Amino acid sequence: MSSQRPVRLGVVGAGLMGRELAAVCGRWSQLIDHPASPEVVAVADPNPAARDWFQRVPSVETFADDWAPLLEDPSIDALYLAVPHHLHEDLYVAAAAAGKDFLAEKPFGIDASSAQRIAAAIDGSDSFVRVSSEFPFFPGALKAYAYAASGALGDILEVRSQFAHSSDIDRNKAINWKRRVETCGEIGVMGDLGLHVAHVPLRLGYAPSSVYSLLDNVVTTRPGPDGSSVDCDTWDNALLACRAPQPDGTRDFSMLWETRRIAPGQMNSWSFEAWGMDGGVRFSTRTPTTLQRFARRDGEQVWEEVQPGNVSAWPVISGGIFEFGFSDALMQMWASYLAEREGALGDRFGTATVAEAVAAHRVFDAALRSNVSGSAERP
Ligand SMILES: NC(=O)c1ccc[n+]([C@@H]2O[C@H](COP(=O)([O-])OP(=O)(O)OC[C@H]3O[C@@H](n4cnc5c(N)ncnc54)[C@H](O)[C@@H]3O)[C@@H](O)[C@H]2O)c1
Repeated sequence: MSSQRPVRLGVVGAGLMGRELAAVCGRWSQLIDHPASPEVVAVADPNPAARDWFQRVPSVETFADDWAPLLEDPSIDALYLAVPHHLHEDLYVAAAAAGKDFLAEKPFGIDASSAQRIAAAIDGSDSFVRVSSEFPFFPGALKAYAYAASGALGDILEVRSQFAHSSDIDRNKAINWKRRVETCGEIGVMGDLGLHVAHVPLRLGYAPSSVYSLLDNVVTTRPGPDGSSVDCDTWDNALLACRAPQPDGTRDFSMLWETRRIAPGQMNSWSFEAWGMDGGVRFSTRTPTTLQRFARRDGEQVWEEVQPGNVSAWPVISGGIFEFGFSDALMQMWASYLAEREGALGDRFGTATVAEAVAAHRVFDAALRSNVSGSAERP
């Protein structure tokens, strides 16, 4: 094995996603050969209970109640910034000003103008920044991406990119920051799930030129901390009907971006589907061990099933026939970020760029305008 450079990571926001990173680092030895070896050495969170969870991570040396000590610590190589959306801009701009490398969480600012200000701050800094988007690292998703990128679709007919869960189907579920405009953003579910559906299409060059939106806020109140009813004012579900030019600039095609917090029967399903005149491909994390490809063969139309196996961008010790899951996708995304930071990504798939996060925000902004105007809007 080639030598691995140690990378000392700081986590800002010790919630759901901050803890996931600690778990990823704890099993980094699963990767066969990677240029970096990360460990979480510092954590910042104003909530003592969230911070205290990190007592179980032996490598953590610093426990802070705000982010400043982590941004100022020269022994920390890179940061993972996983805080509520209304804090993204202050934190990301401060991290760039401190010259820290970081993996930012989506949606990368509470709205499009916030995303642009963050991007400008990063442009003027030495920070290496990427944005979290793990689902395309499923082996089936990587294969679907590579198939579409190869030109095998021919003239593109339609693309569908979806993320659907049903966390909010229970009307009595308590309110949280992701369900409030103030903390999640006016884009609501698009802030929560939108970059997940935007990343692969944008990487393929499928950039929406117009957006018509159907936005739904189904559950408008939820129980607050004391049980009383509190406004739940974010969009629950968003269906964006887009037009996008073919990568060669010829005829436009139709593209649907769907994000839903209330999708009956769905647990946490990310899917990507693209059809063209010559071929087609579809993959869903709901059936993670298979993807389908379309071809016309001997005068017949054939959807064939392919099992990609456990063949990830960064090889692992696990058997090639063992099933891949969410935690594996997160580890692959971190492997991608840390390798790219070392200049060692090569031609492997990389996590979302700052430009992609800003482009996604422009689409979500057009969706909000479309909802008001009732017409398609340009991003
Ligand atoms: N990539 C993914 O699949 C994925 C999944 C869920 C959430 N996210 C994103 O991750 C980010 C965090 O979401 P989460 O689900 O972990 O939320 P969470 O509520 O579980 O955790 C957020 C943490 O941030 C802390 N916090 C609040 N103010 C802070 C401050 N000033 N300094 C430091 N910490 C502070 C909170 O106390 C909390 O512990 C969001 O941007 C969200 O969109 C990404």
